[in-house]
Formats: sequence, C-alpha cells, structure tokens
Amino acid sequence: MTGVGERLQGKRICIVAGSGGVGKTTASAALALGLASGGQRVAVVTIDPARRLADALGLEELGNAPRQVSRALLESHGVQLHDGGELWAMMLDPKATFDDLVTRLAPDDTTRDEVLGNRIYAQLSGAIAGSQEFTAVAKLYELDRDGDFDAIVLDTPPSRNALDFLDAPDRISDFFDSKALKLFAVPTSIATRVMSRGTSVVFAILKRLTGVDLLDDVSVLFRSLGGLIDGFRERAAAVKALLSDPATTFLIVTSPEREPVAEAIFFRGKLRDARMPFGGLIVNRATMLDAGEHTDPAAVAAQLGDQLGAALAAKVAAGVAELQLLAARDAESIERLKAELDEPEPIVVPRLDGEIQDIEGLMALYRRLAAQ
Ligand SMILES: Nc1ncnc2c1ncn2[C@@H]1O[C@H](COP(=O)(O)OP(=O)(O)OP(=O)(O)O)[C@@H](O)[C@H]1O
Ligand SMILES: [Mg+2]
Repeated sequence: MTGVGERLQGKRICIVAGSGGVGKTTASAALALGLASGGQRVAVVTIDPARRLADALGLEELGNAPRQVSRALLESHGVQLHDGGELWAMMLDPKATFDDLVTRLAPDDTTRDEVLGNRIYAQLSGAIAGSQEFTAVAKLYELDRDGDFDAIVLDTPPSRNALDFLDAPDRISDFFDSKALKLFAVPTSIATRVMSRGTSVVFAILKRLTGVDLLDDVSVLFRSLGGLIDGFRERAAAVKALLSDPATTFLIVTSPEREPVAEAIFFRGKLRDARMPFGGLIVNRATMLDAGEHTDPAAVAAQLGDQLGAALAAKVAAGVAELQLLAARDAESIERLKAELDEPEPIVVPRLDGEIQDIEGLMALYRRLAAQ
C-alpha cells in the first residue's frame, strides 16, 4: 500500500482538487502539517477555510503571504517537527493576489497606479478574482518562484466544476487576447470614438447624474491594461506549465457519494487529457464497520433483547443495518473509483468523529493519509 508520503516523494507542489465539501481544505492542511512534521519546510495555501480551522492555524485574513505556524503552538498540541520542519500557512486573498500581479506586471509605476486606482478596475478585478481559480494558481506560481519552500500544498476552490481550475490560465489569456481589450488598448480618443453612440449617451447621463466620468475610467483602464497584455499572457503560460511540471502532482479528494464520485472520475479524465500529473485518490469520510458491526442485525436484536428490552434492541439493530448499508454503498463507490480512475489502491479515510478543526484532528487525519 502506498501512503501519501510515498506518493509525494520528489514532488514540490501538491494540488488538492475535488468536488465541493469533500474535505479538500482539511486534507490540504493535514498534508502540510504532516510533511512539516517529517522535516520539510512547507507552505499551505488554503481557500476559505472554516473559521475554527483558520484559528487553529493562526491564519489571518489580512496579509496575502504565508505566515509561520509557531513551533511552540504545534508542540503544545503534541506535534513534533523533525529538523528543518516548518509549517507556513495562508488564506488566499484573491483581490490582493490580483493587485500584486498587476503591480508586478505593470511596465511602469504610472500604469500600475492608473490600473489600481481605477474605479472600474476595482469592480473588474473583484469579478476576476471572485472566480478564485486563476488567483490560486497565480499565488502558487509566485510562491514556487520565490523558492522558499520544499513543498507547497494548494487547496482549491469549491468549483461547480473542477475543470474551471485547469482552464483558469487559458481563460485569463483569452481575456487578454480578446478583441475588445485590444480595441481599447489604443489611445483614449480612439477608444472613446469606438464606443457606440448609445453607450456614450448612457455614460454622459451617468456623468451628469453622478458627476463621475465613467467613460474616462473605462478608457483609461483599457489603455493601461493594454500595457499588461504581454505580461499576463506570459504569466498565464508559465502558470499553465507549472501545472504540468513533473514536480507538481494532483491529489483528487472525493467522498463516497454519487456526485463527488462522478466529478472525481471526470476530473481524472481531464487531467489525463491535459497531461497533468495525477498523484492519487483520497476517498474521504467513508463509512467503515468496526468488528462488531458486521453482525447480522437480526442476531444483534436477539443478543441485546434481554439486556435492553425488545424495543431498544430493535433500534440498535436498525442502526447497525443502516451502517451496513452505508458501508456497502461506500465499498461499491470505492470499487467503481478503482476501476474508472485506474487507481488500484486509493487512500481511504473513514468518517472521523466530529469535525476536523484543530491541530490534533489534522494530525490524526494525516496519519490516516500516510498509513496506507
Ligand atoms: N474524514 C473526515 N471525518 C469527519 N469529518 C471530516 C473529514 N474530512 C473532512 N471533514 C469535515 O468536513 C467538512 C468539510 O471539509 P472541508 O472544508 O475540508 O471541505 P472542502 O472540500 O474544502 O469544502 P469546499 O469545497 O466548500 O471548500 C469540515 O467540517 C471538515 O471538518
Ligand atoms: Mg475548502
């Protein structure tokens, strides 16, 4: 059996993907913690972590760079870090990441200030950043290029479709290649003239009503963005290349339910098509039976009848029957995944007690991930 430790051997970047709510953020944090305890300098980029998990890792919303989780804090929760081990964690701030990118790619300070200070940009960047996928990979790229970490674990957004994530770099370069942008990436006067008359009238009325010349904002923004086209295009290509790098790997997380399973199968196919590296499958929150729970429910009722009375014994038996049904369903899902993903030994993690929102819980999860 191969645990997650072996699967990540020689990998610098681990992207944890999967359907919504299956445990991506929790698994990412657990992985990073485990790798750090093994002696690596690890950064984890989480996306919208649950409040308690964020608190447990000392994550703050402000600041768009990883912060070290103190060794003392980890030790106080029973986690010893091997020599060299460090855990750094951050919460992705899409808007700040996008602003950073503009700052880095702007050919000069004037362009940068024009873009960042633009009212339309504030809306536009919020919308682009709102998709989260592109900013997540952009952040990953920055961190990797800075070279401060042995390993980076990237959580992924709860996409409707995991494909959004793989397509993100293409979508951003398509946007910068778009005709509309090119058209506007010319001096203001032309851009203004190109605006249809109807649009101009709307802008003129808005200006009269609000005193704000949005048309001017639009043309200035597009002109300044024009100066960023090449930078963004190159960056998108580099980010895309990083996703297929041999030192990158994708772990797919799923729960045993029907929809996430279908999504995992679909995503595996897309990875294959895009020739992106697949590191393994984690089936999370599977129902697994304890030794005593394999007994025939009727026998359970009979055995317990004397002690508990018939009514209560019947309830316990019904509970056991339900568990067995769930376990059977989950086992079936796992078989299906094995076949469809060409993954003979997925890492199966049982549904653990309570939510996993503290260091102890994360470490317990890591042990499950590693001990397969
Ligand atoms: N093996 C497990 N046993 C019990 N609870 C778990 C397990 N794995 C994850 N959880 C819990 O499931 C919930 C969802 O997990 P998490 O937030 O990591 O999912 P996600 O895939 O990141 O969700 P989203 O797609 O919304 O980002 C959390 O409350 C987490 O504590
Ligand atoms: Mg999440």
